[in-house]
Amino acid sequence: MKIVLIGQGGHSKVIKDIILSAEENEIAAYLDDKFSELKTVEQSITGPTEAAADLISYWGDVKFIIAIGSNSVRKKMKERLNLPDEYYATVIHRTACISYSAIIGRGTVIMPNAVVNADSQIGNHAIINSCAVVEHDNCIGNYTHISPNATLAGNVTVEEGVHIGSGATVIPGKTIRQWAVIGAGATVINDVPQYRTAVGVPAKVLRKEGEVLVNISTKKNLPLAASYERK
Ligand SMILES: CC(C)(COP(=O)(O)OP(=O)(O)OC[C@H]1O[C@@H](n2cnc3c(N)ncnc32)[C@H](O)[C@@H]1OP(=O)(O)O)[C@@H](O)C(=O)NCCC(=O)NCCS
Repeated sequence: MKIVLIGQGGHSKVIKDIILSAEENEIAAYLDDKFSELKTVEQSITGPTEAAADLISYWGDVKFIIAIGSNSVRKKMKERLNLPDEYYATVIHRTACISYSAIIGRGTVIMPNAVVNADSQIGNHAIINSCAVVEHDNCIGNYTHISPNATLAGNVTVEEGVHIGSGATVIPGKTIRQWAVIGAGATVINDVPQYRTAVGVPAKVLRKEGEVLVNISTKKNLPLAASYERK
């Protein structure tokens, strides 16, 4: 498969190794906005991201991976490129263990020794990093990142844009709402609200700067994002 990597930073290096670990794959080009023109470099081609459509016209049968570690930047790039979904590859390292009943989306990369168990669904442009475990019946959204050694027990839902930090654990049946972040090493035992960060064991949601906790006029506690706010 001829693959073009979008982005040429640290995350891209890891994806390059995974792609090249399968003999049938070839990295045809690297597109990154640090390049101003499309040109041949050694055995490959480099150029700006706007050249993606030109490469499709040139090669026809070519696939892309957005090799950018930040979930939000990966989403922005996907929207900016505006390529049809069928142009995105799904890359799975040969040491990853994926159930036959699991569904893996386009643009998603599954790294060495990761496990995705029965009936789990992984969305598009997600990263299941090295040694992460996604147990049975998980539903993992688009633009998510499950970091190395994280463990999602059965029936966990991870919504769009969520980042689960290295070594974190989520117990069965919990939901991590969109664009939340789970700190490295956390153990999540409650649902986590959208756009919030939760850390520690058990995980507690970090308060935001300037967050109003008590309404002085009524002296009533305002409903917080979760009943387990971190003191
Ligand atoms: C959770 C995280 C995103 C917070 O980053 P941040 O928003 O910059 O927050 P700060 O570093 O300012 O820390 C805020 C507070 O949370 C605490 N904290 C941060 N990360 C923590 C963690 N993983 N576990 C426990 N406490 C943590 C800090 O000690 C600090 O506490 P304090 O207010 O009592 O001093 C980050 O620390 C983290 O764990 N990222 C995961 C990184 C990772 O696994 N990457 C994988 C790449 S492959």
